[in-house]
Amino acid sequence: MNSKVLKQTIAEIFANGKGILAMDESTPTCKKRFEAAGIPQTIEMYRQYRQLIVTTPGLNESIGGAILFDETIRQQTDDGEPMVKALMKAGIIPGIKVDMGAKPLPEFPKELVTEGLDGLRERLAEYKTMGARFAKWRAVITIGEGILTDACIHANVHALARYAALCQEADIVPIVEPEVLMDGNHSIQETYDVTEKVLKALFSKLYLFKVDLEGIILKPNMIVAGKGCPNQNSVDEVAEATVNCLRSAVPASVPAIAFLSGGQSPKVAAEHLNAINKNFKDRLPWIVAFSFARAIQQPALDVWKGESSNIKKAQEILSSRAKIAAAARRGEYNSVME
Ligand code: G3H
Repeated sequence: MNSKVLKQTIAEIFANGKGILAMDESTPTCKKRFEAAGIPQTIEMYRQYRQLIVTTPGLNESIGGAILFDETIRQQTDDGEPMVKALMKAGIIPGIKVDMGAKPLPEFPKELVTEGLDGLRERLAEYKTMGARFAKWRAVITIGEGILTDACIHANVHALARYAALCQEADIVPIVEPEVLMDGNHSIQETYDVTEKVLKALFSKLYLFKVDLEGIILKPNMIVAGKGCPNQNSVDEVAEATVNCLRSAVPASVPAIAFLSGGQSPKVAAEHLNAINKNFKDRLPWIVAFSFARAIQQPALDVWKGESSNIKKAQEILSSRAKIAAAARRGEYNSVME
């Protein structure tokens, strides 16, 4: 492991107030999003959409790294240029999703464990030759009646730590993502308690597996109430709960935190990130940025609708959402930007 290389990659991704664009939706997720937007669900349409993203003018002003799906890292633009090259030419560092998805945890109904460790060393070596300098693995944690169990936490943080160690062995920065889902009726306090417990278990496992904390990016959820909870909290309350939870569980040696948006609207995700950076500037030992998918992409996908005549407009919207997220990272977001 070359920790200098890892630190350099992280510094480049987040330089000048930039963040990460997650564009690594798996085929089933892409199918779901395209179906909802009325776009044909074919590999060619997925390619055209990813091409729209990687060729968006000025995207590199707010995006320092983009996470790709296996399908995309092997695809080319209409000009025959690999997507990954188009990103690198724009000054955006390519990353790759390497987990194989969250699968049912046997004997633990409704709980999931993320798979993909078998053969990971070899897959990382291949992705590295293709240009990937960072990777992502997402663990899914569900709050519900009788769950979360310790078995689910243990299985997922074990996999995250093994993944992170394999990435670092290959000089690839691991994005470590334990996502506590917003699905459910749980209160903000329940999200806080579960997230804190998961993060503490995670860091203990990262330590056990000798993961260099200075060479990871943490991708957590913000501390919000479940979508079905009747009591939704103010922006300032969410920011405060999120900062308190992270300060209680995340070591200061972690260089960067990049939030997922998790189903929050683009505006709300930006407001929360902004309040975290603006209200708590002096309490954040880490870079606090974004690694959004839906909160940057969704409005552009809705405008594109699969039509080439809409590409320019969709790219403008994508670029504008990325700029808004970057402004929130700096604590300079204002609703006039919407
Ligand atoms: O793994 C999750 C994605 O990379 C982030 O997606 O911002 O839509 O939650 P999201």
